[in-house]
Amino acid sequence: MNKRPFKTSRFISSFARHHWGLSLLLILAILGTSLSGLLPAFALRYIIDQEIQPALNAGTLPETGRLIGLSLLFYGCYFLEGLFTIFENFMIDVYGEKLIHELRYLMLEKSARLRLSYFSKHGSGEMSSRLTDDVYAIELLFSEGLVSLLVSLAKIIGIWVSIFVFNWVLGLLLFAVVPLIALITHLFRKGMLKAQIANRKVLNEESNHFAETIDNLRLLKDLGKEPYRESNFKGLLGRAYQSQNKTALFDSFYSPTIDFIKAIVIALLTLVVAYSYNNSTLVLGLSIGTFAASIDLISSIFAPIQAIGEELQSMQEGVSGIYRVESFLNEEEISPKDSALTAGKVLTPKAGTPLLRFEDLSFHYDDGTELIFDHLSFDLPAKQQVCVIGRTGAGKTTLFRLTLGLLEPTGGALLLNGNPVQAIPDTEKRQIFGYVEQGFKPVPGTLRDQVTLGDPTISEEAVKAALSESFLFDYVKVHLPNGLDTPFHSDDFSRGQLQLLGLARAIVTDPSILLLDEISANLDSATEQQVIQAITRARQSRTVLSISHRLSDQLGFNQIIEVENGHAIAKQ
Ligand SMILES: Nc1ncnc2c1ncn2[C@@H]1O[C@H](COP(=O)(O)OP(=O)(O)OP(=O)(O)O)[C@@H](O)[C@H]1O
Ligand SMILES: [Mg+2]
Repeated sequence: MNKRPFKTSRFISSFARHHWGLSLLLILAILGTSLSGLLPAFALRYIIDQEIQPALNAGTLPETGRLIGLSLLFYGCYFLEGLFTIFENFMIDVYGEKLIHELRYLMLEKSARLRLSYFSKHGSGEMSSRLTDDVYAIELLFSEGLVSLLVSLAKIIGIWVSIFVFNWVLGLLLFAVVPLIALITHLFRKGMLKAQIANRKVLNEESNHFAETIDNLRLLKDLGKEPYRESNFKGLLGRAYQSQNKTALFDSFYSPTIDFIKAIVIALLTLVVAYSYNNSTLVLGLSIGTFAASIDLISSIFAPIQAIGEELQSMQEGVSGIYRVESFLNEEEISPKDSALTAGKVLTPKAGTPLLRFEDLSFHYDDGTELIFDHLSFDLPAKQQVCVIGRTGAGKTTLFRLTLGLLEPTGGALLLNGNPVQAIPDTEKRQIFGYVEQGFKPVPGTLRDQVTLGDPTISEEAVKAALSESFLFDYVKVHLPNGLDTPFHSDDFSRGQLQLLGLARAIVTDPSILLLDEISANLDSATEQQVIQAITRARQSRTVLSISHRLSDQLGFNQIIEVENGHAIAKQ
């Protein structure tokens, strides 16, 4: 965990180095666009001063063919600029998308290494908004912010240098306008940042609310809590609307203000110049061609200055995205896994070592100081049938999560045949443990996916065998027309059947240790008998830890452990 913390700037610079060919093309595109943007003005200057004015002075006009040629030259310059702009936009998109793709990948990898406590502290909607909105904001920061800012600056510098070359007084005059625009941009920026952060916050809350509502849709319907959910959601929508309005207000005032200044500057310049027209030379020693080219350039300097304002805004949005993505990528991680700890190795008994050893184990959740386990020590030999009992909130489920290595002891150790469970790689876990959770947690996909959890190495036969061991296969054959490939909906199954499905998921990989968390709760007597039979069958030749209040007599355990006040007491 002494890794260097994640920094977006470092990520982007290493991305740029790694994809150096792409980076080079992007730079070429930026330079090409800004330089080709100057061509029309230079062409205009040439056409007026070198072609039209001398002809006018001689009392004629250039011949028609030449005039057509000159027009084509002028439009050709615009065409070239257009081509470069297309190339530049394409490159920015390609570059940004690739960047986003790699960042999302990094975050997905990270999510697999997060501690369980992250998920209890943060809603699922929050994580999805981290991966979507916030990463997208970083892409905006990069493409519409950073890169476009470079483009705009290159354009401004190009224009300003050109005007300065035309006439240095004009160049200086133009320079005086820049601080004014910068000041206005700064003032707008400040207001926008505040509104934006508020907006992003509400959006996050909104997506959290949404995800949680979907998770609990059935419960909300059952309890008639929809009006309550709706009023909550309406409140959030109202706040999102208000904060969005505020950003829109800043947005809509900014461009007209800049346009107004542009009109004044051009009008003043035209007035000054028009006052002293003298044949082909104007005030400040400007030729007519230079004047026309300058107006053209000055008109086009406002667009990039204005764009800088918008780019800074995108960057602000991106900065809050960066902050969130960075803090996500710097979340505390689980301990590194030891790839040498394969299921085969971990399950090989060691002489004089019990299957499971709780060695002076202490545990408390990150956000709680209360010790759930306080220097717990006990051994569990292989093939035991253990019933774990204890009042609600005593820590039974927590004991299971520790056993599975999902939580790490805050003190002491939990050893499986002498190996620390939290160091066992996740890929090995399903060969070792079968875990039936307190409530069935569906995954997106088909019925098969509920059992395999997307593991392609689990065969069709294994899935069918697990389902029939769990008394579900006949039901599936009769009721689900597409069998294992039926898209899964919880509503197609009763609560007892969902528990049985959880059992099928746990035993499909033929694990050595079964952990059953309240599998027999809330069942009717028929399903209860099936569950008892299924467990009786499944537990043969396995070690079983079962949290069970009701069925302990019928299941016949050979050890009872009571969890109470931070201790686990072996009862028999
Ligand atoms: N993710 C978590 N973060 C913080 N505290 C938690 C978390 N999960 C459980 N707790 C707390 O730890 C204690 C033990 O919880 P646990 O779920 O292990 O109890 P349990 O014995 O399984 O209860 P039940 O019989 O109701 O299932 C409780 O006080 C609970 O509030
Ligand atoms: Mg529990």
